[in-house]
Amino acid sequence: MQNFVLHLPTKIIFGRDTIRNIGPETVLFGKKILLVYGSGSIKQNDIYDQVTASLAEAGLTAIEHPGVKSNPVLSHVREGIELAKAHQVEAVVAVGGGSVIDSAKAICAGAKVNHDVWLFFKGKKGVKSKLPLTCVLTLAAAGSEMNGGMVITNEETRQKFGTGNQLLKPEVSILDPTATFTVPPSYTAYGAVDAIAHLLEFYFTTTDAATPVQDRFMEGLAINIMESCRKTLARPDDYQARADLMWCATLALNGLTAAGLGMVGFPMHMIEHSLSALYDVPHGAGLSVVMPAWMSWRAADSPAKFAQLARRVFAIKEKDQYRAALGGIESLKNWFREVGSPVSLRDLDIPESAIPAIAANSMDLAAIWRLKGYDIQVVSTILDKCR
Ligand code: NZQ
Ligand code: ZN
Repeated sequence: MQNFVLHLPTKIIFGRDTIRNIGPETVLFGKKILLVYGSGSIKQNDIYDQVTASLAEAGLTAIEHPGVKSNPVLSHVREGIELAKAHQVEAVVAVGGGSVIDSAKAICAGAKVNHDVWLFFKGKKGVKSKLPLTCVLTLAAAGSEMNGGMVITNEETRQKFGTGNQLLKPEVSILDPTATFTVPPSYTAYGAVDAIAHLLEFYFTTTDAATPVQDRFMEGLAINIMESCRKTLARPDDYQARADLMWCATLALNGLTAAGLGMVGFPMHMIEHSLSALYDVPHGAGLSVVMPAWMSWRAADSPAKFAQLARRVFAIKEKDQYRAALGGIESLKNWFREVGSPVSLRDLDIPESAIPAIAANSMDLAAIWRLKGYDIQVVSTILDKCR
């Protein structure tokens, strides 16, 4: 167990019929807000109506900034920053999934500086202050609703970079599982894959040999994510399953699982971000392709942790450590297939000939994230296993 500081300032309001809190919670930060949302799913269900009614009832003026796309882009963030500055908004309200919340975080930070917001993502500037942020989460996946991370794609340079700062943690996030009833099966599955990836990045990259508390916490969350995802695919309005999946996804990347692990890395995400940057692949869909490949590459020289996951999560009985590790990786890959998430570049219609360009694209993020040992050759070897 390594030393750690855990600071979870985000107020979580969880459960049925909680969206009506967004107005009273946001008005504590000011009377004029920027309302950020996506391409319209919240207008097809009744989330938009619930949110705008609550904001109006609390006496808030909302300037709207719709149109955040999945794998959110820098140009749209820049427009949002201009809008926030022009209207001198006092807070930002994000209603959507990780793409919307991440865009809102970038707007909150960018509205407080005079330099380009992309400098935060290139590691050239640090976030020193931000506008207050309140969220209504509509998709269980990224965990952005309770963490300090944000991921944006620079469509000019075709780079998808993530950065983080404690200050970026939302002040309030409202998690109403009924808001996720309309999430299509594809994004329900991709969200579950993403949450599992968040667990396994920590689980496999920690160098601390004594992490029994975190291991069992992460193993338990992974089991619950797989079980609740199966149930929500069978019945999209299964409240209990949607609630379990939503809370597991938040817990998977709010800092709790990583506490005490010491240094960890996100190599699978580093590679996946290039798939999304170059081919606009949904984040979770890219991860279900990259994860088994990275795991089998890494298990070759250090099978122990992979065998532990195989035995504890997939009940693999194999005595030999390496064969047990491979059994677990295959079981995870079968689960991806079962929930309809892709498991190969071919499934994503990405040609093998693209591997060198994808590997080259990932090098900038490998450098910014200080991921040692991931040169073009290594990333190409891992991508070769994704064919
Ligand atoms: O455009 P809208 O209307 O929002 O539709 C979205 C989008 O088309 C739709 N959707 C969301 N809630 C819905 C719904 N459709 C019907 N009913 C609902 N209730 O689903 C699609 C995907 O939404 P998106 O926000 O893109 O998905 P997700 O939540 O998986 O976010 C993905 C983004 O999060 C980033 C990823 O890189 C990606 O850009 N991540 C952020 C992290 C963080 N901040 O810590 C960490 C993660 O590793 C991840 O990188
Ligand atoms: Zn992720």
